[in-house]
Amino acid sequence: MSKFLFIVILFPLFLFVASCNRNSQSEQPSATDLSDDIKGEITFTQYIAPIIHKNCVPCHNPDGAGPFSLITYQDIAKRAKMIKEVTRTKYMPLWKADINYRSFIGERFLSETEIKLIGKWADTGRKYGDTNIVVKPPETKSFSNFSRKPDKVFSLDKPFIVPDTGEYFVLYMFDTGLNEDAEISAFEFVPGNMKIVHHAWLLFDTSGYYDNLFSNQDGPGIKHIVEHNQFTLMDEKRVQDGGLIYTPGFQASEYPKGITKRLPAKAKLMLSIHYVSTGKPEKDSSYLNVYYAKQPVQRHVEFIVFDETLITNQPFEIPPNTIKTFNSRSPKMPMEISILTISPHMHYRGKNMTIFAVTPKNDTIHLLRINDWDLNLQGIYRFKNPLKLPFESEILMNATFDNTMENPSNPVVPPVKAVFGMRSKDEMCQYVIEFVRYMEGDEKMQLNIKNE
Ligand code: HEC
Repeated sequence: MSKFLFIVILFPLFLFVASCNRNSQSEQPSATDLSDDIKGEITFTQYIAPIIHKNCVPCHNPDGAGPFSLITYQDIAKRAKMIKEVTRTKYMPLWKADINYRSFIGERFLSETEIKLIGKWADTGRKYGDTNIVVKPPETKSFSNFSRKPDKVFSLDKPFIVPDTGEYFVLYMFDTGLNEDAEISAFEFVPGNMKIVHHAWLLFDTSGYYDNLFSNQDGPGIKHIVEHNQFTLMDEKRVQDGGLIYTPGFQASEYPKGITKRLPAKAKLMLSIHYVSTGKPEKDSSYLNVYYAKQPVQRHVEFIVFDETLITNQPFEIPPNTIKTFNSRSPKMPMEISILTISPHMHYRGKNMTIFAVTPKNDTIHLLRINDWDLNLQGIYRFKNPLKLPFESEILMNATFDNTMENPSNPVVPPVKAVFGMRSKDEMCQYVIEFVRYMEGDEKMQLNIKNE
């Protein structure tokens, strides 16, 4: 066992191989190609539709996180003043990671030109433009981001029905039919119903121990159980690897050349899906696309959950009617690593989280800052280039929770003491990173790649 694994287990963290994620819905900061001088008539067809469709519709669609659709001319024109205001103040497009602290792939912001265009259009008659131009509505249903066909698809055989109330942790187990180890270069979890799929984890089981746990046989090689605790599974250390693979807006996971995740021969693939009901019964038919590596493999992706046990001001409890900040400090990194992604996690009382590393030379490396936490937009943030942490760096985190009546998201009113728990009425305070062992040149490697 490597020294790093050993240390990680000593400080009870869970370590598993994992995936690297890419923001699925938008690629780069607004790419609308415009000069700074806005001349002539500003029309919906020419200017406004492309900006709004690219930057807003990923959330502002009938199934998205936004409170209304911004797809048609009518949707947009009738809210033009409000849209002008939220873009001028940079409140929208929503991107929870502080871009002044750390830049990530897929971050959403509008250029000054785009903000001006929206403002002018709102103030000058909201013209439609050339009626011969067909404005194609953007894709808002679940879809694949990759042009290449997956090598393997794991899909729920029967749709899962989420009743009108409650939260459901459903664990699916799939036979892979693999007689040899497979090297995976990309994953893509495609949510069947974005309204109810809150997040998804991937696990592998080579122990065979869980086979009998599953009560529902869905189809050949597919079973599921409804109640489970994925952290208990990981704790038992029988499931080998895993990783957070989906949160709304982040569905694809792709590794650069030479880096993969290994799917062991004969392993069972497990998908743990967290569903939250909408108030009426809903169906889900999610699936997972898997792409095998075409290049020789040099390194495997590893995954660590920096959990509540690292908090230095224990216990992790938030008394009612209080605002409380927790600090955590990781063990010293026993080697140089390159971080690929970072995913923060708190529930409804979470307000902000800052994560940074301190090197042995006392340099600070910013990882992530969220100033205004929203559980529904938690994110899997992917660095633009692998971020090198020197040997013996420590990762520090601080996060504030608001357990008062003033927090409109507080799930229990009047407030009660909040303690650790997976259900969203309880609290969590953790983050996960995906990394590889550092190699010369990692800093220059692009993580914004396309599956070819
Ligand atoms: C990542 C998801 C996301 C993206 C991208 C996004 N929004 Fe929103 N938007 C939301 C959510 C969630 C709300 C409701 C909560 C809130 O107001 O913070 C919202 C609220 C709004 C509101 C209402 C604000 C209010 O005060 O009531 C407007 C207007 C708006 N968005 C416009 C836009 C525009 C224009 C864009 C693109 C430039 C955009 N949004 C991009 C998620 C998003």
